[in-house]
Amino acid sequence: MNREQINRKNEHLHLAEQLYNETSSFEDVSFIHNSLPSVDLEHVDLTTTIFNHAFDWPFFINAITGGSQQAKVINQKIAQLAHHLNIGMATGSLSAALKNHDLIDSFSIVRKENPDGFILANLSAEYSVEEAKRAIDLIQANGLQIHINVAQELIMPEGNRYFSSWLHNIENICTQLSCPVIVKEVGFGMTREVVCQLQQIGVSAVDISGKGGTNFAMIENKRRLSPYTSLNHWGLSTLESLVDNYQNTNHMTIIASGGIRNPLDVVKCLSLGAKNTSMAGYLLHYLNHHAIEETIDHLLEWKKELKMLYTLLGAKNNNDLMKTQLLFSPRLAHWCQARHIDWTQWANRH
Ligand code: FNR
Repeated sequence: MNREQINRKNEHLHLAEQLYNETSSFEDVSFIHNSLPSVDLEHVDLTTTIFNHAFDWPFFINAITGGSQQAKVINQKIAQLAHHLNIGMATGSLSAALKNHDLIDSFSIVRKENPDGFILANLSAEYSVEEAKRAIDLIQANGLQIHINVAQELIMPEGNRYFSSWLHNIENICTQLSCPVIVKEVGFGMTREVVCQLQQIGVSAVDISGKGGTNFAMIENKRRLSPYTSLNHWGLSTLESLVDNYQNTNHMTIIASGGIRNPLDVVKCLSLGAKNTSMAGYLLHYLNHHAIEETIDHLLEWKKELKMLYTLLGAKNNNDLMKTQLLFSPRLAHWCQARHIDWTQWANRH
């Protein structure tokens, strides 16, 4: 890994913060209020089970960074947060550590700070089975996240241009690894057709990581002398990806990310079939402006708010959220119509 690649990691951290905005991408969905929810707040159970692992939280910390000194400091904070609250977490892409031994500690710090935690290693789809195993070993990861980020690579001046082997490569990794393999987008969303392809090759779960939060088209465009601005709004939103994949939720574990910034966003995703949710940009932004202790307190407040929301919706647990009633905006209803999905099903279920 050369200086240019190390700089890229730091530029991503800097630009994600510079472009961070508070606009919600979840307003296309609202809950229909239930005045008689027969649930007591104290009986709400937020336990979220995925890969036979029961988490106390319905979200985890998604892939962010690694591969520079600045990234090491952030990974250390993320791991401390995850350890203190027992939240699952992922590292950023370990490709830097595979290429340069000096950068390993910017990733392995997460295992040092979070010795018993659930940690996912992250790599792109171009790596071999052997490299995937090495990445997992470097942080004694509990599972692997493979990111598929074609839009980002194409806009990135120094990005990859070869994608035809990705599906086959992912299949090889799934066949030969015994740990869970999650395939994730990086903020451009995933259609049901892509998710079906991934299901057929043995992927354990997908993180549809949709448009609406961290925007890697804009981030990479900021790094270009001549930006491809027409791609700044490329992709499916997180909500579009979720409704598109609703029929897949019995066959594939769907994780939702992309723009989650508050407990209500989490609950909306779970109500639309996600088995878990995750956040990158929001937590990075919060950690950039607050101490670890404040961030811990903030997430403990989230827990209270989540329990309040479940109660309001008459849901004792995540399964019950799948019975809540939701209204879609004309924009999301239009997406459903175009994709032959009956959007009224969510407004009338019980
Ligand atoms: C990311 N993300 C990411 N994803 C991945 O699979 N590997 C990676 O190395 C990175 N790197 C990275 C750096 C920074 C600074 C950010 C903010 C994000 C993408 C991330 O995991 C997630 O898919 C998207 O950011 C969308 O979620 P949010 O940020 O809107 O919550």
